[in-house]
Amino acid sequence: MLEAAAIALLWSMVLSLVLVANAGALPRVLLNGDQKLNTSFTITQAKSPNWTPQRVPITAIYAAPFIKHKMRMPKKLRDAVAELDSNETSGIHHRANGQTADGTNGLYTFPVKIGTPPQTLRILFDTGSGDFWVWSWLMPGTLTAGRNIYNGSNSTSSGRWDGQSFNINYQQGNAYGLVWQDTVVLEGDGGQLGVAGNPIECAQNIGGTHLPALTGIDGMLGLNMWVNDSESPNPQQTWFNFILPKLSAPLFTANFVRNGVGTIDFGFINPTKYTGSIAYTPVVPLNGWPQSGYWLFNWSGFAIGTRNFNSTELQVLTDSGCNIVLLPQSISHNYYSRVQGAFQQSNGFWAFPCAATLPSFTFGVGSTRIVMGAKHMIYIALDDGINCLGAIQDTAENSYAIIGSPWFEGLFVVHDYGGNRIGFAARP
Ligand SMILES: *[C@@H]1O[C@H](CO)[C@@H](O)[C@H](O)[C@H]1NC(C)=O
Ligand SMILES: *[C@@H]1O[C@H](CO)[C@@H](O)[C@H](O)[C@H]1NC(C)=O
Ligand SMILES: *[C@@H]1O[C@H](CO)[C@@H](O)[C@H](O)[C@H]1NC(C)=O
Ligand SMILES: *[C@@H]1O[C@H](CO)[C@@H](O)[C@H](O)[C@H]1NC(C)=O
Ligand SMILES: *[C@@H]1O[C@H](CO)[C@@H](O)[C@H](O)[C@H]1NC(C)=O
Ligand SMILES: *[C@@H]1O[C@H](CO)[C@@H](O)[C@H](O)[C@H]1NC(C)=O
Ligand SMILES: *[C@@H]1O[C@H](CO)[C@@H](O)[C@H](O)[C@H]1NC(C)=O
Repeated sequence: MLEAAAIALLWSMVLSLVLVANAGALPRVLLNGDQKLNTSFTITQAKSPNWTPQRVPITAIYAAPFIKHKMRMPKKLRDAVAELDSNETSGIHHRANGQTADGTNGLYTFPVKIGTPPQTLRILFDTGSGDFWVWSWLMPGTLTAGRNIYNGSNSTSSGRWDGQSFNINYQQGNAYGLVWQDTVVLEGDGGQLGVAGNPIECAQNIGGTHLPALTGIDGMLGLNMWVNDSESPNPQQTWFNFILPKLSAPLFTANFVRNGVGTIDFGFINPTKYTGSIAYTPVVPLNGWPQSGYWLFNWSGFAIGTRNFNSTELQVLTDSGCNIVLLPQSISHNYYSRVQGAFQQSNGFWAFPCAATLPSFTFGVGSTRIVMGAKHMIYIALDDGINCLGAIQDTAENSYAIIGSPWFEGLFVVHDYGGNRIGFAARP
């Protein structure tokens, strides 16, 4: 109580300047305390000790980005999803070849402290969305077993935002619930940043097959540029947008490591984390959805292996919360025509013998060429001990591309809000 009172006092002056737009809601304010105004810090990827691999239908893995981004699925996938949905309980999925795989690779979780005293949750940082939601005490215990959950009733700085709720179609499945507000702090090497009264989407239920299978995570933190999230009636901006003015530089960089120790640097660029120079390109609005807030750029072309560079421009979304890489069909088919033994499952998902030689894939950022090597072409190995699932999968020919985690793992990516641009460099 004392702490809450002190915070209230400290911010009374700021509050008088802040427009309280939403009656009934706690004011959303940057915390000062011992935090500098010119902050930069590093947070480090941490795997949940509760993590166990969960079997997920490959069809669900493939469908996830299409559902998340409301993109039209290729026909084979659409049919497979229909079958999966209709036979959800039977567990028999003919069109998906009956196959399941450990679908939880590429999860980048970082500790986030919520409330007073702090409750630490392992949160997936998703550059492809804008919502901040958590597994919460409002859910049935069967859905929260083995996770850290946020309990708003157990925090002295929390409050329920009356009338505010959320509903998202995130991946395969959806999440909905109520919105509470509380202090949210990211703490890392070199500093921390906190926001009091930050909206927290507290799930009451989570559906589908994919989200509940993500055992390693306690919630998601969207790092979109500025998109309004799935809250209603008052859509909110992201946590990061809110702390921007506190940073030494208005940017964050992602250096993700599969199942390893990756980092996100806030407010600075660490020159030891990349090689060569950083190639920047402007963030562009998505054709057909200019307000998306996506980290989207136009690549200047591509090359498969040692073949000629094809200077065809393409819109490309970067999404750290996506397990795979989606390319327009002509490009993905072109790629797999150069992989001996490559085949499509009946749901359309590309696979190949793990022993196959995999050409590199190069994309252009302006006049710079970014090369993704063979190891970034594999999503995961199948249980048969022979075949691997490809990182590159098909999307519709007229669609934008998506760079997901298999390629993030080979890149240093600068998300430069201030410069409205995105930068890429190779990693050491
Ligand atoms: C912010 O901090 C950096 C070092 O961390 C320093 O170089 C820079 O001058 C500072 N900027 C301001 C405006 O204080
Ligand atoms: C559901 O599975 C059964 C076998 O268990 C199969 O006969 C049926 O065709 C499947 N349904 C669909 C819509 O594919
Ligand atoms: C949440 O916290 C309250 C207050 O401490 C407690 O009574 C309740 O059992 C907690 N709920 C869960 C699901 O842990
Ligand atoms: C509530 O918070 C107290 C103090 O941190 C803690 O000891 C207790 O386990 C928490 N209870 C629940 C149900 O989360
Ligand atoms: C997003 O929210 C801002 C206010 O925060 C509003 O001005 C803008 O129109 C909204 N954009 C969309 C696409 O809803
Ligand atoms: C990006 O590409 C799209 C689609 O190819 C095109 O419409 C748009 O003008 C391009 N934008 C820039 C800034 O080059
Ligand atoms: C370049 O790529 C586009 C697809 O992005 C394709 O339509 C075109 O045929 C390719 N050009 C060459 C010369 O391969």
